[in-house]
Amino acid sequence: MSLAVVSLCVVLALSPCALASGDGNGNGKPLVTAITKDAATSLYTVPIKDGHPLVIDLSGALVWTTCDASHPTMECHHHFCMHAHSYHPPDCPHNGYGHADEEDPFRCKCTAHPFNPFSGESATADLTRTRLSANATDGKNPLYPVPFTAVTSCAPESLLAKLPAGTVGVAGLARTRLALQAQIARAQKVANKFALCLPSDGEGIAIFGGGPLFLLPPGRPDVTAALAGETPLHKNKDLPGYFITATKIAVNQEQVQLYSQEPLVVELCSRIPYTVLRPDVYRAVIDAFDKATAGRKRVTPAAAPFALCYDSRELGSTRLGYAVPQIDLVLEGGKNWTVFGGNSMAQVSDGTACLALLEMKGEKGSPPPPAVVIGGFQMENNLMVFDEEKARLGFSGLLWGRQTTCSNFNFTLAA
Ligand SMILES: *[C@@H]1O[C@H](CO)[C@@H](O)[C@H](O)[C@H]1NC(C)=O
Ligand SMILES: *[C@@H]1O[C@H](CO)[C@@H](O)[C@H](O)[C@H]1NC(C)=O
Ligand SMILES: *[C@@H]1O[C@H](CO)[C@@H](O)[C@H](O)[C@H]1NC(C)=O
Repeated sequence: MSLAVVSLCVVLALSPCALASGDGNGNGKPLVTAITKDAATSLYTVPIKDGHPLVIDLSGALVWTTCDASHPTMECHHHFCMHAHSYHPPDCPHNGYGHADEEDPFRCKCTAHPFNPFSGESATADLTRTRLSANATDGKNPLYPVPFTAVTSCAPESLLAKLPAGTVGVAGLARTRLALQAQIARAQKVANKFALCLPSDGEGIAIFGGGPLFLLPPGRPDVTAALAGETPLHKNKDLPGYFITATKIAVNQEQVQLYSQEPLVVELCSRIPYTVLRPDVYRAVIDAFDKATAGRKRVTPAAAPFALCYDSRELGSTRLGYAVPQIDLVLEGGKNWTVFGGNSMAQVSDGTACLALLEMKGEKGSPPPPAVVIGGFQMENNLMVFDEEKARLGFSGLLWGRQTTCSNFNFTLAA
């Protein structure tokens, strides 16, 4: 008798996991989606909501979209409702997990706080489930569409302000349970990791589940198996994004002297177009780059918002972009994130290219801001693998060095 009771409990305990695998139908394959850069905002989007784009946000805790009036709402006691409240957007009022259902006062309807990081606005709206879709992939081509259900927050239309035209929300990719890649990992039974290859033009790629990834021309090795380096990811208790540690910065392979000997906290952030540096680090890096390019023909005054601009016809080019001094971030673990001309120089007009680094603005907050926030331009054409299970970031370095780019995935459906 007691044996029967025990085995019943085991069956009940296992069944939610077994049921979860019924969703998705991708046969445990990673999912791929194209990434487009919006020219007006420099934000990156993925077309996963009935073909409509969502902005990707490495620092975003939730997936949110506008909803139909008839959407379902999750209950407050659901564990996903707790997860939806694990990070609270700045300046958004705390008002509990939800509110009583007007039709059934014994039911509590869960609300979440979708946040638009580009406008700084947030809202309070229902936590729901939404159908999203992407293609299964073998790493070479898309194979077939896979619809899946994700827990998402609704949002009023007004929260779309300042996002690229046509987008219907934001896909958070931060280190949370309700981030897009974590939900795909559960639905698809793939690893909780994703490969991100941001394009400078054309269509880049994200692979949820991590890889493999083959870029054209055909016959090239799997990019995710030949990374240039990896480094530990660190958590920040107030922010759900991706933080790594740099021990040194070098310009032209000479170490830049910084005021503080403390390791530098570096965040990766797809919300901003260009890397920003804390004022002390910015000064030191700009001075070092200025010295290392002393003989180069300048364009003065520099084109705002940049400090150092050059006559690009005289810079010379290599397969890694303009022939300018490289900038190395020496990372924890000993590998270098090296920024070559292709990721350091922004072409601001026909004859002018500028060092695309900016000084961090804003008050010395608590918690202290990172020393370096790597923005979109510095991540383009550099494959990154964000591996939550190993808590590590892998990176390929600038793919131009391998005669390919992030826009070289073969998006033709495999026959
Ligand atoms: C799957 O890939 C095809 C071919 O690239 C594309 O047209 C289609 O929109 C993709 N479907 C989804 C759901 O992403
Ligand atoms: C990393 O960069 C530093 C500074 O340029 C250099 O001294 C070092 O040799 C590089 N390390 C590797 C592993 O390439
Ligand atoms: C892209 O993939 C399709 C389908 O597998 C294939 O027929 C085509 O040759 C590929 N294109 C290139 C340039 O390799």
